[in-house]
Parts: sequence; structure tokens; C-alpha cells
Amino acid sequence: MEKESIRYEIKGLVDKWKDKEGNLIMILHEIQNHHGYVPRELALELSAMLDVPLARIYEVITFYNFFKLHPPGKHKIAVCLGTACYLKGSSEILKEIKNILHVEEGQTTKDGLFHLEMVRCLGCCGLAPVMQIDGKIYGKVKKSEIMEILSAYVKEE
Ligand code: FES
Repeated sequence: MEKESIRYEIKGLVDKWKDKEGNLIMILHEIQNHHGYVPRELALELSAMLDVPLARIYEVITFYNFFKLHPPGKHKIAVCLGTACYLKGSSEILKEIKNILHVEEGQTTKDGLFHLEMVRCLGCCGLAPVMQIDGKIYGKVKKSEIMEILSAYVKEE
């Protein structure tokens, strides 16, 4: 992002929220909603304009799960570790995905294609173990099917 547009974006947000209580969080929310994460350059500019230490801004970002420090992956994978899915082996599904993609929960692959999350229930326990990619449910998933499922998304590119 160009310095000029960063300054313009942050100035707009600071002007909008400057007199309101909790303005730091509200500004971070707007940045997160707009970009899908809080880019470092914006956090730096915000720190300067609000006269708030950068460390304080990162304290807030890392405290709330909602804020992300990195751009979101293109495809969001959610593996269910709720009771029904767990009992049907979803932790093995999660492990397999981590092995194939070389990521941990909450991380995005280096190529930006996949973001991995775990969830507590996707509301379709009868299909356990369940995973979801971009809202599409995969039920009764077998470890041996993971590579094929993920490959379909890679081929789409
Ligand atoms: S526990 Fe996995 S869908 Fe409900």
C-alpha cells in the first residue's frame, strides 16, 4: 500500500472516531473488516496519529481473536472438533490437513490459498467427522480423502 493512501485511510478513521470512547478498538474493527486483517503499515500510522504506542495496538489485536495480523487465506477450512466429530476421529483429519498444508490452526498457507481453523460444532453431527471449506460441508470424511478434497481447490486456480 502506498504511504499516501495509508495516511488518507487512517486519517479518515481517526477523524470519524476521535471523540468516541473505545476509539482504538472501533478503528481496528473498521480496518479488519475492510482488509480482512490489520496490516502492519496501518497499525504504524494509527500509532502515530493517535499517539498510542504500537505495542499497545498489538496488545489489543492479539487479545481479541477477531483481529488478524495476516491476510486471510483464499479458502477457509474449518475442521470440527466437537464431541461427535472428535469421537469419530476428526483430530486425525486435522492432523492430516496440517501435514499436507504445513500449517497450524489459525494460520494461512504460504501461498495464501488456505486458512485453517478448528470449530466446536458445525451443526451436522450426524455426518461426523465433518469439515467445511468456504461454507461447503464435507461429511463422514476419511483421512485418505483429504488430499483429493484439497487438490480440487488447488486445481481451480
Ligand atoms: S460436533 Fe461436529 S458437527 Fe457437531
